[in-house]
Amino acid sequence: MRILAIETSCDETGLAVLSFEKGARTLTLESHVLFSQVALHEQFGGVFPTLAKRAHTERFVPLLEETLKNADQHTTHPKAISTELKGQILSACPREETLVEEICAFVETIAKPDIDCIAVTIGPGLEPALWVGINAAKVLSLLWNIPVLPINHMEGHVVTALFERGESGKVKGESTNTFAQKDITFPLLALLVSGGHTELVLMQSAGNYKKIGATRDDAVGEAFDKVARVLGLPYPGGPKISALAKEFRAANTENEFNFPRPMQHSGDFDFSYSGLKTALLYKVQELLKEISELTDEHKRALAAAFEDAAVEVLVHKVKKAIEEFHPKAFLIGGGVAGNEHLQNELKKVLAEFADTSFLIPERQFTTDNAVMIGLAAFLQLQVNAKTYIATDLHLKANGNLSIEEK
Ligand code: KG4
Ligand code: ZN
Repeated sequence: MRILAIETSCDETGLAVLSFEKGARTLTLESHVLFSQVALHEQFGGVFPTLAKRAHTERFVPLLEETLKNADQHTTHPKAISTELKGQILSACPREETLVEEICAFVETIAKPDIDCIAVTIGPGLEPALWVGINAAKVLSLLWNIPVLPINHMEGHVVTALFERGESGKVKGESTNTFAQKDITFPLLALLVSGGHTELVLMQSAGNYKKIGATRDDAVGEAFDKVARVLGLPYPGGPKISALAKEFRAANTENEFNFPRPMQHSGDFDFSYSGLKTALLYKVQELLKEISELTDEHKRALAAAFEDAAVEVLVHKVKKAIEEFHPKAFLIGGGVAGNEHLQNELKKVLAEFADTSFLIPERQFTTDNAVMIGLAAFLQLQVNAKTYIATDLHLKANGNLSIEEK
């Protein structure tokens, strides 16, 4: 079975091809392409939905061609699409004429690839961006008569940590990437931390998610990005703040700054990051009354103080949740899951719980990508081979889709 996975929920256009034998627990990654729009959004300090949509549309066909070539599924074979089918596709994807025309023109040049299912992110995320992937999936589904499997983006972030990567197997003399499913037992606790989400999720069984806590305002990744902007650092701020904080800690000096730990002792599993960001902003404004600009030393110390506070709250709530729910495994997912300080602090806490294993995703797959969407599709097909939708023309983007919804 071969899955074509598509991810366009935010500012990364991702496509991937994964294949596996029926009943297997190992998949082969045949292709993984990603176009990051970071340079485009950098000037605005965040993601601009209409620009994101345009960039996804522009990049889709070149990335599709590249991914099919990587997966050996690109054979030149000109064949015209009937006017009737084209009309049907255009009416299924209103206001998406450019994308439809481009995909049709490309598909007319190649033979039908050996793909059994198209997995696509339907939410949560930016709706204009999500629609590009969804409409592209619909067009390809109609053209090739392949079913579509709608995937929740957050489920993609969860499942990434459930696989282990190996470099085994040979295809045409080249080594290929494999993903092997780890042995896991439930319940499982997940901390999902990204630019749009901060959630603690409990899984009692495969595919069964219960949100036990979430942010009440900003997501932790969003706070990293906003703080970076205050310190004059480019978007996305997470990795840059993290690097500065690391430099500060390496110097081993005392930090003159200390920020509040919002909701640390709220007695529930919710979070709040808006106040922390504001506390840093006020501190910077106070400093700028006395000096004309922040020194590099100020920036390093502020970044470390912010990261300390942001991470401490996450780690504290994870500890409480492990004590309350006794999960057999704990995992992290989402862009902020790649944060080194967070991982180190969580490792210390997990060392106290011998019955809970810690599953860490491979760093390159913590931020948005299509591989995680393909892996989520694989797990869904494993639970129920008939979960996909045969050429569903009513598939919709849902910007606020919860991980609890199916
Ligand atoms: O999962 P992701 O790629 O996109 C969303 O679904 O939101 O996460 C992106 C977020 C950004 O806010 C980025 O600043 C943050 O993850 N991020 C990090 C790190 N790497 C990415 N935050 C802190 N430390 C990092 N190393
Ligand atoms: Zn994400």
